[in-house]
Amino acid sequence: MKILSIETSCDETGICILTSHTPDSVEISGNALASQIDLHAQYGGVFPAMAKREHTEKILPLTIEALSQANLLVQEKSELSEIQKQHIRDICTRDTVLADYLIDFFSSYKKPDIDYIACTVGPGLEPALWVGVNTAKSFATIWNIPLIPINHMEGHIVTAVIQKTTGENFIFTNLALPALALLVSGGHTELVLVENIGHYTKIGQTRDDAVGEAFDKIARMLGLAYPGGPKVSKLAKEFRASGTTQPFILPRPMMHTQDYDFSFSGIKTAMLYTIRDLTEQNTRELTDEEKSALACAFEDAAIEVLIKKTMRAVAEHHIQTLIIGGGVAGNTYLKEQLTLATNKAGITLLTPEQWLATDNAVMIGLAATLQVLSGNIHTPELSTIRADGNMTL
Ligand code: KG4
Ligand code: ZN
Repeated sequence: MKILSIETSCDETGICILTSHTPDSVEISGNALASQIDLHAQYGGVFPAMAKREHTEKILPLTIEALSQANLLVQEKSELSEIQKQHIRDICTRDTVLADYLIDFFSSYKKPDIDYIACTVGPGLEPALWVGVNTAKSFATIWNIPLIPINHMEGHIVTAVIQKTTGENFIFTNLALPALALLVSGGHTELVLVENIGHYTKIGQTRDDAVGEAFDKIARMLGLAYPGGPKVSKLAKEFRASGTTQPFILPRPMMHTQDYDFSFSGIKTAMLYTIRDLTEQNTRELTDEEKSALACAFEDAAIEVLIKKTMRAVAEHHIQTLIIGGGVAGNTYLKEQLTLATNKAGITLLTPEQWLATDNAVMIGLAATLQVLSGNIHTPELSTIRADGNMTL
């Protein structure tokens, strides 16, 4: 079975081809990813209109690259019928540029040997999501292949349940259930109960900023470029290694509340005041030592709150496996602290490989593969498939 998957929810355009030879394994036969990070870095965040334009420019060249890697690309000049062209224009109502690119693409390449298309339908930036959704619907229509809509957050969960064997081959981990997923990215901070793959209940989330967003905002205050998460984390690590006593303590909002929700905007505000007092109303620059200490104070506070709430949910829901996913799941300090906490609790911790933690199309293909393999496949009528920026699990 071969699945072509598409991811365009934020600032990464991804196309992947997954092949399953057996029910417990999967091979990455093609994988092409283009990041817009450099483009958005100059604005300090993701610009939706620009993200949409970039996805539109990249999505078909990346499709060609991924199909070619998987030996599924066959050039063949054949004009689409007027009816087919009209189908594509109807699908891409608000995007004539994408429609023209798609018509040109279908006129140049043969239908590939693919069984399913999968694409992210939400949550994310709607203008960005629509590029992937319209491309997926056009593929499904012209090639007559079923389309499986995928929730981006499910993609982040399933990246942790595969293990590499050889080369590009992975096996699915036997999950001890119930599991809990801590999903931490630039747009989300959520605790999700995993009764089984495909069966999720969100039990908590951030009430304001996502933890990755807080990392990015703190980075900006410290004069570090977007996306600042990894840079803040690097400074924090250097500070810890220096053995210096921490002069700054930031608050841990909502750490002891009896729910599973989070709040990160208070830490950010406290950081703003700390920096203002330290620099005498911003009349001088922060020193490098101060920046490292502040980065560490932030990381300590943010990670402590994440761990406390997560481990309380682990205890109260008798969790056997803890899964982390999303960009911040690449954070070394979070992984170290969670390893200690889960060892103490006697449960399994599953973390994604670093390159699978941030957005990519492999995770979307994996979620679709698991649906098909479990027999619980959801392929709604194409006209009902829409991008939904606020989609929840
Ligand atoms: O999942 P992702 O690629 O995109 C979203 O869906 O948001 O996550 C990106 C976020 C950014 O906020 C980035 O700063 C953060 O993940 N991030 C990190 C680390 N690596 C990425 N935050 C803290 N420590 C890291 N090592
Ligand atoms: Zn994500």
